[in-house]
Amino acid sequence: MGKRVYIYTVGCQMNELDSQLVADLLRQIGYEVVESARKADVILFNTCSVRQHAEDKIYSALGALKRLKDRRRQTIGVLGCMAQKEGQEIFRRAPHVDLVVGPGRLQHLPELLEQVAAGAGPVLAISPWSEPADRHSLLAGFEPFDPPRGAQSVPPSRQAYVRIMSGCNKACSYCVVPRVRGPEQCRPAEEIVQEVRQLVDGGCLEVTLLGQTVNSYWDRSGGRTIRLADLLVQLHDITGLERIRFVTNHPRHMTDDLLQAVRDLPKVCPYFHVPAQSGSNTVLRRMGRGYTVESYREMLARIRQTVPESAISSDFIVGFCGETEEDFQETVRLVQEARFKNAYIFKYSPRPGTKAAQCYPDDVPQEVKRRRNNLLLQIQNQISLEENQKFIGRHVQVLVEGPSKLGQKSPEHQSALQLTGRTRCDRIVVFPGHRRLIGQFCTIRITHATPTTLLGEWEEPSSSPSAAPQKEIPLPVISIPTP
Ligand code: 5AD
Ligand code: SF4
Repeated sequence: MGKRVYIYTVGCQMNELDSQLVADLLRQIGYEVVESARKADVILFNTCSVRQHAEDKIYSALGALKRLKDRRRQTIGVLGCMAQKEGQEIFRRAPHVDLVVGPGRLQHLPELLEQVAAGAGPVLAISPWSEPADRHSLLAGFEPFDPPRGAQSVPPSRQAYVRIMSGCNKACSYCVVPRVRGPEQCRPAEEIVQEVRQLVDGGCLEVTLLGQTVNSYWDRSGGRTIRLADLLVQLHDITGLERIRFVTNHPRHMTDDLLQAVRDLPKVCPYFHVPAQSGSNTVLRRMGRGYTVESYREMLARIRQTVPESAISSDFIVGFCGETEEDFQETVRLVQEARFKNAYIFKYSPRPGTKAAQCYPDDVPQEVKRRRNNLLLQIQNQISLEENQKFIGRHVQVLVEGPSKLGQKSPEHQSALQLTGRTRCDRIVVFPGHRRLIGQFCTIRITHATPTTLLGEWEEPSSSPSAAPQKEIPLPVISIPTP
């Protein structure tokens, strides 16, 4: 019997993609991917180190596995950013771990698992890191992990992530990502287009292009420079592909050609995730973000002028080193003014090895961080609610992703259940439907709104003339046979 692997993933979309690619890779060599650690012979944790909390959770999950391993002798591996950052420290704190593999070494996982099976003892595979590093050897150490993909990589939701670049060349003083994912490396445009074609041949309708600063993408491998806007044009030509998204953007690279591409290419979703991190110039400078709050505001205005129906979301860090009450109030003002669709708000967490951890004291007390976090969240929630309420009574088109949290509790054989889908502007829509709608475009009439979710009713194509797509969602509706 083949081996069974369970993969537990935390962190960002890049990690989700890595886990899917690892699952595909292991399936190819005979593994079965299972949904429970208890049923598995190999348990892999794909980890995040952006905040301390994410690492603490993994250490405690590893601790909890010790007893299971004593009984079942499973292989336990730690992959991803925390593997790269912690290295040997993981074996020290959790001696029952067999394997630690950084993001720049994932392609070797099959051989590494064989080494463990052959009794090679704890196996460590991470990219070399020395500071100040020679850029060339640093780049070579972080190997791209973009194995070929085909129909087997397309889930029932018919959506796929596609990495267009890895690593990051920015030097935000709080951020561990450049250290754990290495310097920016862009994939050749031709390779990306080829990958998306294969995914579309396998039934994929929507791709989300991933990069830490996706809008700084550039490729010169084909003789001329291709930027993100050019890549979008090339992908737009792929017949059968219906939606293209891209995350995450850096404010400094939000160029007019990109905004015009989003405006002019109907398959490109009018959604921009573009983290501000703070509304105070003093804090932005200390964070090393490379822009001012004035230029961020100007960028928001340009996005809204060029793509008026777009939705914009952001990230903020509260309680960064030296953040005063006045600095925080400037962030509040930006949030109130910008009216983001949503914003992810984080309490600053010092990351060893970063400039901020080395140079600036973490001097905002936990209690103050918590208060600022709650206050900003409350303000943003109210804005998100008001923005979502504007959809009540309107029709939106969603690509149905799968059962909602509630729907997941329905038994497999039950066809009527609560589903979740996403609009072009990245709003989550929950509605009662049928399992067979997963992976289809549906028109939903919105009846209720919360800060995070639109709730509605599925309009069967023949039932209402108003089911025609609205301007906000100009895609054709794929007709779904009535039951
Ligand atoms: N502490 C808190 N939040 C952080 N982020 C990145 N580094 C840190 C840190 N050290 C946040 C930023 C980033 C998001 C992915 O995580 O807001 O945009
Ligand atoms: Fe981290 Fe800044 Fe790079 Fe984003 S742009 S991954 S916050 S260093």
